[in-house]
Amino acid sequence: MSETSREILGIIQGVEGSDGADVKLRRYIGGPELNILDPFLMLDVFGTDEPNDYIGGFPSHPHRGFETVTYMLAGQMRHKDNAGNEGVIIPGGVQWMTAGRGIVHSEMPEQEAGLMKGFQLWVNLPASEKMCEPGYQEFPPEVMPVEELQGGGSINVIAGKTNAGTTGPVTNAHTLPFYMDIRLGANEELDQRIDESHNAFIYVIEGALNVGSSDVSIDEGDLCVLGEGKSVSIKSDANGTRLLLVAGKTLDEPVARGGPFVMNTRAEVMQAFEDYQNNKF
Ligand code: FE2
Repeated sequence: MSETSREILGIIQGVEGSDGADVKLRRYIGGPELNILDPFLMLDVFGTDEPNDYIGGFPSHPHRGFETVTYMLAGQMRHKDNAGNEGVIIPGGVQWMTAGRGIVHSEMPEQEAGLMKGFQLWVNLPASEKMCEPGYQEFPPEVMPVEELQGGGSINVIAGKTNAGTTGPVTNAHTLPFYMDIRLGANEELDQRIDESHNAFIYVIEGALNVGSSDVSIDEGDLCVLGEGKSVSIKSDANGTRLLLVAGKTLDEPVARGGPFVMNTRAEVMQAFEDYQNNKF
């Protein structure tokens, strides 16, 4: 392990909450534990097989100034927006939406029973792009490249590039994001380069793992914020693990939040509310 390998900066368990029409979720980023991990504004994890906890979905609502990323592990979500786009996100599929100057959308469960599990990540846009044209990058699981690792594990690459060069379909020149769904077998170790200018985190989907030189166990449902460095070393325990590894270039700009709008100043947030009220989205 090199001396520039990232170590654990903090481990958080998320805070239970709800959003949309009473969808139960755990908020890791954007809540009281971790307000922001620049450029990431929010990370919600939803996962329940109790229909009452998800059936209300996320009815029509606006966004401006950032990107929303939906990645599903189980269940299906139908999205619709005011630009006429519509589709269903299925397990292993991703929808990377650039809200830019404004979009009004809904995300509703395409099921009435069974498990619904997935992630919603908010990625900030630089000031120069906050009012850009809205856009989508949507990819079904079959186009997501899977890299098989020598130790038996695998990496589903959604965005970014692995050490071996496997590159995800999502492109983004603003924060150069890195979003990978990684499976490791028993006692398997993965070393992955991450640009030094990026903030990074690991979310443990299943099992348990260690990071860097620490022997602290990071367990299912934990989010581990990584410290600075050029790479990260992840090791699974005897039962194997599944995790998300996510990173993005820091923007270092002022952040003004107002519900579904994230701008640089309070005045810009107020303008967003006014534009939405006046049907300018
Ligand atoms: Fe949304």
